[in-house]
Amino acid sequence: MVGKEQAPSGFGGASGGPRVDNQWSSSRGFVLATLGSAIGLGNIWRFSYVVGEHGGGAFILVYLAAVVGLGLPLLIAELAIGQRTRTNAIAAFEKLSAARPWRWAGWLGVTVSVAILSYYPVIAGWVARYLVSYAVAQPQDPTGAGFAASFEAFVADPYQPVFWHGIVIIAAGAVVAAGVERGIELASRILMPVFAVLIVLLAGYGLSLPGASQALEFLFLPDWSVLLHAGTYLAAVGQAFFSIGLAMAIFVTFGSYLPRGVRLPHAALAIVAGDTFVAVIAGVMIFSAVFSYGLDPAHGPTLAFVVLPEVFSVMPAGRWFAVGFFFLLLVAALTSVIALLEVPVSLVMAKLRWRRPRAAVVVSAAAFLLGVPSALGYGAFRSILTTVTPLLDVIDYVSLNVILPLSGIAVALFAGWVWSTADALEASGLVTRPMRHLWLWSLRVVVPVTIGLVMIRGLGLI
Ligand code: TRP
Repeated sequence: MVGKEQAPSGFGGASGGPRVDNQWSSSRGFVLATLGSAIGLGNIWRFSYVVGEHGGGAFILVYLAAVVGLGLPLLIAELAIGQRTRTNAIAAFEKLSAARPWRWAGWLGVTVSVAILSYYPVIAGWVARYLVSYAVAQPQDPTGAGFAASFEAFVADPYQPVFWHGIVIIAAGAVVAAGVERGIELASRILMPVFAVLIVLLAGYGLSLPGASQALEFLFLPDWSVLLHAGTYLAAVGQAFFSIGLAMAIFVTFGSYLPRGVRLPHAALAIVAGDTFVAVIAGVMIFSAVFSYGLDPAHGPTLAFVVLPEVFSVMPAGRWFAVGFFFLLLVAALTSVIALLEVPVSLVMAKLRWRRPRAAVVVSAAAFLLGVPSALGYGAFRSILTTVTPLLDVIDYVSLNVILPLSGIAVALFAGWVWSTADALEASGLVTRPMRHLWLWSLRVVVPVTIGLVMIRGLGLI
C-alpha cells in the first residue's frame, strides 16, 4: 500500500515531495468515490428486504419521492457546506455560523456514522465469508435443516464473524491510510466499474429466469394499501437516507476534498440517480430469483443470507451466480466501509493533528473493537450479551430513527436559515432563479417539516 512512508500534508495543504493527499483529482473521481460510499449493503441487502417487507411498488414510489424531495436538496447542502469550508464535519458548521452551538449539527451526523460503523463492517464480513465459501465449494445443507440453520450456526460461532469483520476492517483501513486521491478515489475507480459490469450481468441473468415477470410486477405495480401505514413513510425516508448516506457527516467530509471549481448540482444528481438505479436493478435481480423458486419476498434481513442460498442451491449454475452476487455485495460494502472510516479519520487528523496513516491505523483498530459486540451478538457469549444485545438494538434504533432525522433537520435548517443566504446560494452551484428558490425553500420548510412529521408519526408519538 502506498502511504506509509510518505510525508503528510497539512489539512488541505500540500508539502513538497510525495504526499498523502486530501483532495480529489477530478470531478469524475469524486463522483465515483461518492457513489462508492453511497452504493453499499443498503442498496442490495437492505433495499431488497425493506421493499419486500413493505409490499413492493407503492413503497418504491414513496422512496423515490423521498430521494428527490428530501435527499437531493440535502445532498447539495452537505456538499456545499464541505466544499465551502474545506474542513471536517464539525468545524464546517462552526465556520459558517457565528453561533457555535451549530457544531452539534456536525456531531449528530458523526454520531450516526459511528453507530453504523459499529455493525456495518460486521455484515460486510458475513458477505466475505459467504463469498469465500461459495468460491471453494457449493455449500451443502448437511443437516437438512435448511440454510437458516447454517446461517445461524455461522453467526453464532465465537470466532468466525470476528475474524471476517477484522479482514474487512484491515482492507478498508489500508485504503483510508493511503489517502483521498490514491486510496479512496483509486479504489473506487477500480471497483465501481467492476461493480457496474457485474450487476448488469446478474440482473440480465435474473431477467432470464421464469419468475422475472412476477418480480417486475411486485416492484412496479403499486399496491396502494401500504400507503395507509405511517410506517411505510418512515421506512422509506429512513432507507433513502441510509442508502444515500445523508445527514451522516459523510458528504460534508467528501465535499471538503473538492476543488473549488466543481459544480455540485450535477454531481449530486449523478450520485442520487446512480444510487437509486442500483437499488432498483438489484431488486430486479434478487426478486426474480426469489419468485422463480417460489420463496417469500417478505423475509426480512436474512433475505440475502438465507433465502438466496436456497435459490442458489436449486438454480442451474447457482453456485457461480452466488459467487458473482456475494462478490458484488462485497465490493459495494467495502467502498462504503472505507467512507465510514473516513469520517472519524478526518476528524482525528484535524483534532489531534495526526498524520493520515496513524489516524487510519488507530481509527481502524477502534472500529474493529467497536464491532466486536455486534459480531458476537448472536454468538457464544449470548448469555452475557442478553444484557448487551438489547443495548445494541437500542443504539441502532435510536441512531437511525431519532438522531438521523434530527441530524437531517439540523443540516436543512442550518443551510436554509443560519448560513448566509447569498453565500449558500453561491456555494450550491445552482444557477437559475427558480432552482435556487426551490432549493432554499426545500431546506427552510419542506425538508425539516416532512422529516419531523414522518419521524413523529413513525415513532408513534402522535
Ligand atoms: N450508503 C451506504 C449503503 O447504502 C451505507 C451508509 C450509511 C454509509 N451511512 C454511510 C456509507 C456513511 C458510508 C458513509 O450501504
